[in-house]
Amino acid sequence: MMDLSTTYLGLELKNPLVASASPLSKKISTVQKLEQAGVGAIVMYSLFEEQIIHESLELDHYLTRGTESFAEALTYLPDTGTYSMGPDKYLDHLSAVKKAVSVPVIGSLNGVSKGGWVRYARYIQEAGADALELNLYYLATDPDLKSQDLEAAQIDLVKEVKSAITIPLAIKLSPFATSLANITRRLVEAGANGLVLFNRFYQPDFDLEELEVVPNLELSTSSDLRLPLRWISILFGQIDADFALTSGVHTSKDVLKSMMAGAKVAMMASELLHNGVQRVPAILAELQKWMQEHEYESIKQMQGSMSQQSVAEPAAFERANYMKVLNSWIDLP
Ligand SMILES: Cc1cc2nc3c(=O)[nH]c(=O)nc-3n(C[C@H](O)[C@H](O)[C@H](O)COP(=O)(O)O)c2cc1C
Repeated sequence: MMDLSTTYLGLELKNPLVASASPLSKKISTVQKLEQAGVGAIVMYSLFEEQIIHESLELDHYLTRGTESFAEALTYLPDTGTYSMGPDKYLDHLSAVKKAVSVPVIGSLNGVSKGGWVRYARYIQEAGADALELNLYYLATDPDLKSQDLEAAQIDLVKEVKSAITIPLAIKLSPFATSLANITRRLVEAGANGLVLFNRFYQPDFDLEELEVVPNLELSTSSDLRLPLRWISILFGQIDADFALTSGVHTSKDVLKSMMAGAKVAMMASELLHNGVQRVPAILAELQKWMQEHEYESIKQMQGSMSQQSVAEPAAFERANYMKVLNSWIDLP
């Protein structure tokens, strides 16, 4: 048997397959199935800043406190479904999940601004989470908002969350930063132990008949792997953090590529939502087989082996290669 074990955020994992934040952690029975299927760890779906604020506003009967646009934003929160579970129920559910499985469980907070809601980082720790993932999902649509101001707010938030907890902290972020290498380094300086690359943005579509904007949740494919693969390859060895790759992990080859880029874990949501948790043992068996055939003894041995620092042609990740690739298209019809 090959050694599939890895470490992530100081946690010992039996293998690098991690169930990413998704409705898969909504039911105790599914979480148990994930463990039986063999995942190395489970990330809980997120508790959103808006949910916490929504509830406290409701409690206070104090809706006037927010700006008008904020009150309006609250109306977009769904009333039912996965993400409307109140903050306290989320904590109860997290502690039930933690009791139901022995693999590490990572809590997830999703927010952008500093404020009282950050105390939930501590509550998530108290509910038993082994680590916390903070998702900084944000779309900067305001032309007056400067990138340095947004980044400063993100750094402040990370510092605040970090100071509220003693468990390890991972930051899940978007690929859309002007200087990704720089912001990742500053996030680590602010206290991030891990970086989860990348958030997948759900792009709305237009319904041409109804003239409505429709929220369109499309699951990923393996081609979505390329973006986080490239960035983890570039950042590995430069940024002192544990990398988790999320977006486009569907097969054992995707896991192998993630490891070689430099990730400690490969997170999966779409594949498991679409094809079921039985994909986990299948992928683990394929990993074993591939490693045996290619004479790898351990996962750790391959981590970072194809990172920019290790490959023979580091420019393959950079602008130089962009020209080369464009020029390689020679067969015009
Ligand atoms: C239905 C669904 C719900 C999700 N919920 C969350 C969430 O609550 N918090 C979060 O950080 N990511 C959430 N994600 C994003 C996933 O964790 C993951 O990062 C993304 O789907 C890309 O990975 P994949 O290609 O394996 O699907 C969700 C994804 C899906 C498809």
